[in-house]
Amino acid sequence: MSEITSILKEKRVFKPGAAFSQEAHIKSFRDYERLYSQAIKNPEKFWATQAKEQLHWFKPWNKVLNWKPPFAKWFIGGKINVSYNCLDRHVASWRKNKAAIIWEGEPPFAPQKTGAAAGRPHEIRTLTYNQLHIEVCKFANALKGQGVRKGDRVIIYMPMVPELAIAMLACARMGAIHSVVFGGFSAQSLVDRITDAQATFVITADGGFRRGTSVNLKDAVDEALKSCPGVKSVIVYQRTKQIIHMQTGRDHWWHDLMAQASPDCKADPLDSEHPLYILYTSGSTGKPKGIQHSTGGYLLGATYTSKIVFDLKDDDVYWCTADIGWVTGHTYVVYGPLSNGATVVMYEGAPNYPQPDRFWDIIERHKVTILYTAPTAIRAFMKWGDEWPKKHDLKSLRLLGSVGEPINPEAWMWYQKNIGGGRCPIVDTWWQTETGGILISPLPGATPTKPGSATRPLPGIVVDIVDKNGDPSKEGGFLVLRKPWPHMMRTIWGDAERFKKQYWSQVKPNKKGVSDTYFTGDGARRDKDGYYWVMGRVDDVIKVSGHRLGTAEIESALVSHPKVAEAAVVGRPDELTGEAVVSFVTLKMGNGQGQISPSDALKDELKAHVTKAIGSIARPAEIRFTDALPKTRSGKIMRRLLRDIAHGRETVGDTTTLEDFSVLAKLRAAQGEEE
Ligand code: WT7
Repeated sequence: MSEITSILKEKRVFKPGAAFSQEAHIKSFRDYERLYSQAIKNPEKFWATQAKEQLHWFKPWNKVLNWKPPFAKWFIGGKINVSYNCLDRHVASWRKNKAAIIWEGEPPFAPQKTGAAAGRPHEIRTLTYNQLHIEVCKFANALKGQGVRKGDRVIIYMPMVPELAIAMLACARMGAIHSVVFGGFSAQSLVDRITDAQATFVITADGGFRRGTSVNLKDAVDEALKSCPGVKSVIVYQRTKQIIHMQTGRDHWWHDLMAQASPDCKADPLDSEHPLYILYTSGSTGKPKGIQHSTGGYLLGATYTSKIVFDLKDDDVYWCTADIGWVTGHTYVVYGPLSNGATVVMYEGAPNYPQPDRFWDIIERHKVTILYTAPTAIRAFMKWGDEWPKKHDLKSLRLLGSVGEPINPEAWMWYQKNIGGGRCPIVDTWWQTETGGILISPLPGATPTKPGSATRPLPGIVVDIVDKNGDPSKEGGFLVLRKPWPHMMRTIWGDAERFKKQYWSQVKPNKKGVSDTYFTGDGARRDKDGYYWVMGRVDDVIKVSGHRLGTAEIESALVSHPKVAEAAVVGRPDELTGEAVVSFVTLKMGNGQGQISPSDALKDELKAHVTKAIGSIARPAEIRFTDALPKTRSGKIMRRLLRDIAHGRETVGDTTTLEDFSVLAKLRAAQGEEE
């Protein structure tokens, strides 16, 4: 409530600086509006022009769009390759020896005892476009040698090392469909994803460095593969040199395969609609959805949005701090910037290792010009104190970005002042795994910004707000998208029905009876300037540190514990992580081994259980035992009530204690209140 009120009262407006605008790709609000109306008038022409200007096609398309709601096909008949666009076309230009990736490992001292890097602080690797191209070609050949073919699904479960990007680009080169699984997910999550995608190959590493320790990745793969007999081959990149098990016949070292691999590998001309990747994300059911993205349309979105939102130029040093395991890393660490021929900074580890100024240290040393990070990180920096950024020269920065959740105006202002030195525009970018790329965002040289608002849709994107009946709403309601766009998801992998139901059935059909409006799952408001203020999810999805979690997934993890009878999970606001997971749990009376009673030890056991089932990102902040969950007469859990309780809002009398809560539950049930 307080947050929303403060957002609605927000009156500050920041105009882009004249010097920035003069140099920007899009220089004024009028230019933005002109582009926007051009795109509205003739969307197909608009996108076709972009596709021609920004990408290399082996063969042009015959038709720009085939739209049979909710299924879209873009650039039909066109042949294109993502890896070619990110590498070969730059290698054939003056960019050949330009830095594509500047990577920094987490350990603050280089492990090398001899050679040029010996004794020097920081482990840094720079790959030029030419070098990256060679690595990708070799690894594509290594994959082929293992039997990987076009259309095969390849799981990538790696730390933030350049080899992760190399693996993705190698898959893209031959049309193998990658599915990157974030390194923080558990063995069980890996099993779910491998099984759903029917993946037959896994690329991983022994481990990765994070906050001073090494994360075990290969152990999780070994554990997962006990339940995945379909996986034929595992390629292991050696990063930490920790001792791991290598299964003869199945497991191969990355460096062994690369030593044999030829650097010649032609990029396969793929159908524009060929799937580039599947990325799993949480929804309102217990089962994650495999979001399927395309080749041509997706790459266009990634390229176009990177260029206009980040105003990418050839002399930029661009750093998106997201892990590649999330969509932000796919689109804005790998595909978007590399397709633009940009120099990308990539960092392996935590922002506060060895000290809370690691990010500022990296920006100062590499002279980063564009920083794209998440509100949750910004709030952590605020908490750690202004003295950390103050120790560093951040004058190289010219543009800041934010993504993942609504940014509270206070964090926005802090970011602008302490990191941007009052001089850098901020782009608050709204989008989703499903949308493939940014849809609502300021253009830094054109759009006046208001702290907390993602401002206006990009040219080519048609946004609207509807009420709960699906009718257009003037001010507040559900955020929807009215027109297809090239980088939109194509379907849920293997589940077109769920795709239809989840995203295309919530809003009233159009006049012809066709459901052609995409439902985002977000609540939003539009102000008198046509600016959008995205408030957060309206479904059973919560955002913890910008990571998306399905409450149903956590519930099903909890009830899989032998002592748990029932569980309900809701989010509550948290100063640092945006939202935090609160679980209400009813225990079984006994399980044959005596009576089960609530205890702090059992709380810890349940938290560990969720970590094991999903990963540490889903670990509940709070577990509350209760005798009963409040339900409607039809048996539906009354989440609104639980949310009130988790927020510490008073519902009826004091509901914060268990007894009162169960009394309340019974009371409510007796009243027969339906949610
Ligand atoms: C959800 C999508 C966007 C890529 C990374 C997360 C929330 C994202 C913003 C923003 C307000 C935002 C929405 C959205 N969200 N960016 N700038 N302002 N909310 O992707 O995990 O698919 O999550 O993140 O709720 O629906 P994701």
